[in-house]
Amino acid sequence: MATMSAPRTDNSPETAAAPGTIVLAGATGALGLLIAHQLRQRGATVRALVRPAASAKAEADSLRLQGVEVVAVDYNDAAELTKACAGATCVVSALSGLRAVIVDAQTQLLDAAVAAGVPRFIPSDFSADFTRLPEGSNRNFDLRREFARRLDQAPIQATSIFNGMFADLLTGQAPVVLAGPRRVLYWGSPDQPLDFTTMVNTAEFTAAAALDATTPRYLCVAGEVASIRGVQAAARAATGQEYKLFRAGSLGFLGTMIQVTKTLMPAKDDVFPPWQGMQYLHNMLSGQAKLPSLDNARYPGIRWTSVREVLAAKA
Ligand SMILES: NC(=O)c1ccc[n+]([C@@H]2O[C@H](COP(=O)([O-])OP(=O)(O)OC[C@H]3O[C@@H](n4cnc5c(N)ncnc54)[C@H](OP(=O)(O)O)[C@@H]3O)[C@@H](O)[C@H]2O)c1
Repeated sequence: MATMSAPRTDNSPETAAAPGTIVLAGATGALGLLIAHQLRQRGATVRALVRPAASAKAEADSLRLQGVEVVAVDYNDAAELTKACAGATCVVSALSGLRAVIVDAQTQLLDAAVAAGVPRFIPSDFSADFTRLPEGSNRNFDLRREFARRLDQAPIQATSIFNGMFADLLTGQAPVVLAGPRRVLYWGSPDQPLDFTTMVNTAEFTAAAALDATTPRYLCVAGEVASIRGVQAAARAATGQEYKLFRAGSLGFLGTMIQVTKTLMPAKDDVFPPWQGMQYLHNMLSGQAKLPSLDNARYPGIRWTSVREVLAAKA
């Protein structure tokens, strides 16, 4: 992976640049709404690109109420998409989907950004560091690497933001902290460091990065780096209750479980089927997707939320 942490200077990147116009694709999504809010908080002019059907949704109305310009676009109409990108200092993608979105729609957006002369592009990565993972170890990451190869060929300054796993998932979709039996479930080693960042923190950092003309190719953040033992301690501290570790097997066994689940429940068109979540856990627990260094201090004023705080909010 390329050089990760840009050296800090006394001239903070965030304060050096005047807020510009940021084009935000996927602004009606869970992360996109948060990024839009954080951009407005920072005084940026925000133009949200939404598909026509989404422009009548409550999320689009919420964007308009915050002073965001909502523009309905057809991603297949290159001229319309280019016009929608005109005048922006950065295009941020918070799109979510499979090949049709991550490779195809993002390529259309990238082509439009280049045609409109936009200097910077932030793709919808927002994940663990997938740059060193072998092909096939995570379907959604394979798609992101495929788009990254196109992005790296384009005449535009690209910045990917890696945040590990959304810490919010620990109280939702990710079956790691099991409140019922009070167990912390894992495979492999309980001592492997893991990166967790809330969606809000990810959005705050992304908004700051979108307004920073000097970002490097990769920026990495983590609200907390915790091992499974650290997650166990956080669960105890958050709930005041005893949590025990539950090792379900080796990473090799998790790999077998992924193959079995994929065969029995392929759900190929789902963005996050159970087997994909298991692949994500495997990538993290193996250490292969660990963030090599953190850029948390790049923008002052972000208060990073700990795993304990996330678990306590749900307890
Ligand atoms: N690190 C983690 O643990 C983690 C967890 C979850 C998600 N993420 C990542 O965070 C990013 C945002 O995810 P999210 O959960 O916020 O997504 P989301 O709520 O599902 O929103 C996705 C957005 O994508 C747009 N979209 C979907 N299909 C499209 C298409 N065919 N063409 C154009 N636009 C399309 C939608 O825009 P419209 O307004 O046009 O409908 C929607 O606003 C993704 O990269 C996702 O993988 C990371």
